[in-house]
Amino acid sequence: MKILIVDDENISRTILLKKMELIGECTAVDDSLNALELYDKAVKNKEPFDLITLDVSMPKMDGRQLLQLIRKKEKALKIIKKDRVKIIMVSSRMNMSIIKECIKLGCDGYISKPVNKYQLLENLSRMGFALPTNIEKDDKKKHTQIVARIIKRFYKGKIKLPVLPRIVNEVQQLMESQDPSIEDLAEIVKKDILISSKLISIANSPLYRGVDKADSLNAALLRLGIEASQGLIATLVTKNLFKSDNKILNRLLEKLWMHSFACACIGKRFAEELGIQKSETVFLMGIVHDIGKMLLLKAIADMDPKESFENMEIQVAIHEIHTTFGAAVLKKMRFSNEFIRIAEFHHWNDFSKNDEQELLIIHLSDYLAKEIGFSFFDVEEIDDEAKSDSRKKLENLESLKQLNLDPDKAMEIADEIKAIIQDSAQAF
Ligand SMILES: [Fe+2]
Ligand SMILES: [Fe+2]
Repeated sequence: MKILIVDDENISRTILLKKMELIGECTAVDDSLNALELYDKAVKNKEPFDLITLDVSMPKMDGRQLLQLIRKKEKALKIIKKDRVKIIMVSSRMNMSIIKECIKLGCDGYISKPVNKYQLLENLSRMGFALPTNIEKDDKKKHTQIVARIIKRFYKGKIKLPVLPRIVNEVQQLMESQDPSIEDLAEIVKKDILISSKLISIANSPLYRGVDKADSLNAALLRLGIEASQGLIATLVTKNLFKSDNKILNRLLEKLWMHSFACACIGKRFAEELGIQKSETVFLMGIVHDIGKMLLLKAIADMDPKESFENMEIQVAIHEIHTTFGAAVLKKMRFSNEFIRIAEFHHWNDFSKNDEQELLIIHLSDYLAKEIGFSFFDVEEIDDEAKSDSRKKLENLESLKQLNLDPDKAMEIADEIKAIIQDSAQAF
């Protein structure tokens, strides 16, 4: 396999070169014009590159321009899509609009600096490249192999995805019908006793509580409203996935569930505060934002029951790939693009005015959920610059700024929610 690495920064070029040398025959250059010359020559000699990594910002011609130019040339040469060179964009300051732009221009993947092996493995696997079997030998690096195996199995369809029970589809169909009514919804829901009783307790939980007690399914559905009910049914079904017979894993999944639940509750409150109609959708987004982590934990435990999740390296590995993995999972489960984007980008902190409010809210809520004591892995704190104080970090959150929220007000909301999370969680 022939690889071309294009990056004007010496250090990151060297890091990439070291990692890529395990995969194929590499050429590294520090500017785009040079790269273009090599590209042309390789095509002319009928020995084209299989993979190119492009730094987004470079002098003279930046990565985007070079990407565009290469795709143009391929088009002119009538090279069919599957034979085009795979291109991964690399950038230290990658924001959503740059990613969207690069995807539009025809890149196949993107990674952020400093480049880590997990992101790289995920990208290579998704592009259909065979993963190197000899990447790591010593025990400390065993985790790279585990991650590589999981990614490979996932793209081969060997990791079973959760099958959503029939009730979810039936409710979906009802919602898509002309004039869905609470009565029709009750007809569907009452067939499932567990979900019915849970919906009643949710309607009476601090999250939705009204003046009187809602003591029947119809009363509960009426209080919740038809849209919220749909989201809550999906939530109840999702909660079932956060369970395992393996005790250690089960404890971890519970912790992850509480983190997701806290994020959902905070997100819902912010959506209401900001007057967003779809506050119930935001709630469900919070529930599924870390679904990648849930499935990765299960997949690892399945493959290697003795694996210790206390191990820092495995936590880092899971954290590094859970976003792309989660996005791929939600895509397969046919969630809408809004959900997929949230799974994929909820750890970026480089947003612009054009980014969806829902994504900004989940980003902020994820942060605040950890602040009020519902964190998951410790590594999340570490890569968030644990040194600076939390108040300063909150002020600097791009999502908070873009939502025009006052940090004091945001913290106040989070604290308010904190008081009702435990009680509400019991209803689910
Ligand atoms: Fe996450
Ligand atoms: Fe999270």
